[in-house]
Amino acid sequence: MPSETPAACTGYEPKIVAFVCTWCTYTGADLAGTSRLQMPPNVRVVRLNCSSRVDPLFVMKAFERGADGVIVSGCHPGDCHYSTGNYFARRRFAIFNELLDFMGVDSRRLTMSWVSASQGGKWRDVVSETVAHVKELGPFHRYRQLEREERP
Ligand code: FES
Repeated sequence: MPSETPAACTGYEPKIVAFVCTWCTYTGADLAGTSRLQMPPNVRVVRLNCSSRVDPLFVMKAFERGADGVIVSGCHPGDCHYSTGNYFARRRFAIFNELLDFMGVDSRRLTMSWVSASQGGKWRDVVSETVAHVKELGPFHRYRQLEREERP
């Protein structure tokens, strides 16, 4: 795969989009906020009913619209509010992860995690680690250029 922009961009702050389920991860993220846990402010949260609702096209659209990294997060396996939704998500993203490199996206830009409503600290860690990883990888331009070319 051709190299992306080197990570050594000074002052670079990655944009991360997080698709989270409302029942566990969103509540955990909310807990992190109300507990005043310190974490990088680079993440924009998109709240969905369940991790199974996250279509891989949402992820590709996020990259196209300027995201440098994406987090998909839901309830722990066995704890999904809809019983088995996160099992579907887990299988879907295991396969999608394999396809990412093929589509020109370094798969390290996608983080999949399970964060429960009581795990504000884990959410902080997921955010901090994802931001650090993506900072190392540098900005993601490839799909942004495609979007610019397609706009009238
Ligand atoms: Fe959280 Fe399904 S409701 S993963």
